[in-house]
Amino acid sequence: MAGNPRKDEVSGVDTTGHEWDGIEELNNPLPRWWLWVLYASIIWSVVYWIFMPAWPGISDYTRGTLGYSQRDEVKMELAEVKASRAGLDEKILSSSLEDITKDTNLNQYALAAGKAAFGDNCSACHGSGAQGAKGYPNLNDDHWLWGGSLDDIHYTISYGIRSTHDDTRFNDMTAFLRDEILEKGEISDVAEYVLSLSGTSSDAEAASRGESIFEDNCVACHADGGIGNRELGAPNLSDKLWLFGGDKKTVVQSISYGRKGVMPTWEARLDPVTIKALSIYVHSLGGGE
Ligand code: HEC
Ligand code: HEC
Repeated sequence: MAGNPRKDEVSGVDTTGHEWDGIEELNNPLPRWWLWVLYASIIWSVVYWIFMPAWPGISDYTRGTLGYSQRDEVKMELAEVKASRAGLDEKILSSSLEDITKDTNLNQYALAAGKAAFGDNCSACHGSGAQGAKGYPNLNDDHWLWGGSLDDIHYTISYGIRSTHDDTRFNDMTAFLRDEILEKGEISDVAEYVLSLSGTSSDAEAASRGESIFEDNCVACHADGGIGNRELGAPNLSDKLWLFGGDKKTVVQSISYGRKGVMPTWEARLDPVTIKALSIYVHSLGGGE
């Protein structure tokens, strides 16, 4: 540091007396615009302290005379969203499934809610794209065990299939071998007949022996020609689509022991709006009738 302040020879401005390696600091006044901005900021901050929440205290903070709070703001926004949703939920509750699908707005809301609920509750069994798996039906196609109308689907989801609900859809295929109704040879023959219905039997003779066994034991549920019966949830056996599998061994297994697939009831677990939304979502997947 140098000693006394002195005038800089080039600019004629006083120096502050600060000097580093021969470079001296000029004592220029602060620019006027800068000072005004500083004063304005000070005034603005005082005004802000008065009107808005500002200073933290030990257990509270200065709230300002306007009473503004971001938390209140968020609360209000949430309440608004809830109110608009409650309106839609109520509409869904009071409208028929058919009417919901005709109202673009409601339908979109139901599809979104249904899709989310499907991911949470159904995809574990039916797959995330509702494509199904062995024993769990594909819900995208137009082959239905129990029916693909909005009301059919709604009923299935509400009460289930072979579920614990009193109103469950129910039908019990006999276990023909275990219950000693048919012998192994007869089961092999009737299995060939079943395969012949979709043109996949390789033993025409056995298949023709199986035909009368089918008529005596199977037609009551699976109908003539094995085309199935939705009233009874009996699958179509002639369409090459299999719930459990269409190779001889699996078909023999189905006939020998029955299957008894269980779809849970959702009536007690999901609210009525969600069940309606799910019905509309499943119906929209491609096979809706
Ligand atoms: C524990 C496994 C499981 C879960 C979870 C499940 N399902 Fe199912 N679902 C089944 C089975 C098994 C069947 C077929 C039952 C049969 O053999 O008739 C079925 C059948 C259905 C059917 C009837 C299909 C037809 O062809 O008629 C619909 C619709 C359906 N499920 C929708 C749903 C929805 C929606 C959910 C979610 C809320 C759901 N399922 C959750 C196992 C399940
Ligand atoms: C009381 C009604 C009933 C009778 C009788 C019946 N079935 Fe079934 N069958 C069903 C039902 C319901 C299913 C659906 C599967 C389940 O139980 O989950 C089924 C499923 C099947 C399947 C599996 C289909 C697939 O897609 O994987 C085959 C194969 C089958 N039945 C063959 C037969 C044959 C052959 C007979 C006669 C020997 C017969 N059924 C008699 C009701 C019946």
